[in-house]
Amino acid sequence: MSENPYGKGDTAWFVQDRLGMFIHWGLYAQAARHEWVKNRERITNEDYQKYFDSFHPDLYDPKEWARLAKAAGMKYFVITTKHHEGFCLWDSAYTDYKATKTSLGRDLLKEMVDAFRAEGLKVGFYYSIIDWHHPEFPVDRFHPQRDDQEFREATKDRDVTIYAEYLHNQVRELLTNFGKIDIIWFDFSYPGEDGKGKDEWKSEKLVNMIRELQPDIMINNRLDLEESGDFVTPEQFQPRYGVKNPDGSPAVWEACQTLSGSWGYHRDEMTWKSVNQILWMLIDGVSKGGNMLMNVGPTGRGEIDYRAKACLEGIGAWMHYNSRSIYGCGAAPEGMVAPPDCRYTYNPETKRLYLHILAWPFKAIHLSGMEGKVKYAQFLHDASEVRFNRSRQQEHSNLTEKTTAGDLAIRVPVNKPNVEIPVIELFLK
Ligand code: GLC
Repeated sequence: MSENPYGKGDTAWFVQDRLGMFIHWGLYAQAARHEWVKNRERITNEDYQKYFDSFHPDLYDPKEWARLAKAAGMKYFVITTKHHEGFCLWDSAYTDYKATKTSLGRDLLKEMVDAFRAEGLKVGFYYSIIDWHHPEFPVDRFHPQRDDQEFREATKDRDVTIYAEYLHNQVRELLTNFGKIDIIWFDFSYPGEDGKGKDEWKSEKLVNMIRELQPDIMINNRLDLEESGDFVTPEQFQPRYGVKNPDGSPAVWEACQTLSGSWGYHRDEMTWKSVNQILWMLIDGVSKGGNMLMNVGPTGRGEIDYRAKACLEGIGAWMHYNSRSIYGCGAAPEGMVAPPDCRYTYNPETKRLYLHILAWPFKAIHLSGMEGKVKYAQFLHDASEVRFNRSRQQEHSNLTEKTTAGDLAIRVPVNKPNVEIPVIELFLK
């Protein structure tokens, strides 16, 4: 018996690249009130059909999306080839519920893959295991018709093995017809009473097939298998201490985050994050050894709307100067603990430690235990020298100066440089 193929993907590039773009795009963009609208409002296939019939993203320009992603410093993207609603962005041979059958008649996925590859980004496919359109997908606790007793009765003989075959066939198609795919991102399988799990989807068989088709591909952890695959996917929160494997070693992980709360385009949402907050999330994640996959939900006309664009541009403006503290970086070496209101990231190749200053202090930042460890320091955005010396503390009682053994004082200007979150690059000895 060969070894378990789950968790055998190539993650070396991933932990270097650190920042990716998630894209949620489907018919729900037209409802514009959350990608779970079909579930939340218990919409039937018949009533949901209006979104398919009117789908016509005439402004869709994947080259523009790819340019925006690249300019934001993103190195890979993950696109919802099919979300829970079941609509497929590519020309699948196994369904007519697909982009090529809408009035626009284009293989939206193919164009996107080509455009992002042309910009040098790696390619990830999200695929929803849950399917609210397929005629053999069981009416479970998430299904839009879960409360419709008549519907439940009429569909109780649905054959999940037929659906599982559809799922396997589509995954084979996705991993055969689009060249090298770097990530497959499943969402989601769940255990529990009426929940589906690895047996229904034949997850193990699926993993074997995936590994055969794409030996290096990274597979995420949402297949309801015992192991966590190639990477773990905390959703919409910042892990407090990073993520560990069961044996205590650091795990490969990626926090997926939204700009405004929902994943699909939401016209009326008021909870847009600021650029500062998004950058904080990125930095915080990398300081704990993780990636960030930041989502955009393009509109029904196929555009990344102005609010999302502004966030991407803000990320890009910061990355332009500071990406050196992100790419190739991870947690600081054991024992180096960042001061309050700061985060460290560290590049083990170059032996440079990055001090991200989240709240601007007055004149000095004291780095515990760093005396004698730094040979040079500069701001990252303009390569201007930052001077430092051994920490001195003024004792309140008599105002005499006292050195604090082992600590280093970084001397910063009174005014915060004109950078959203300034970074000081410390060349370690
Ligand atoms: C979720 C949701 C969803 C989104 C995803 C991203 O579990 O079902 O709509 O696609 O997570 O992580």
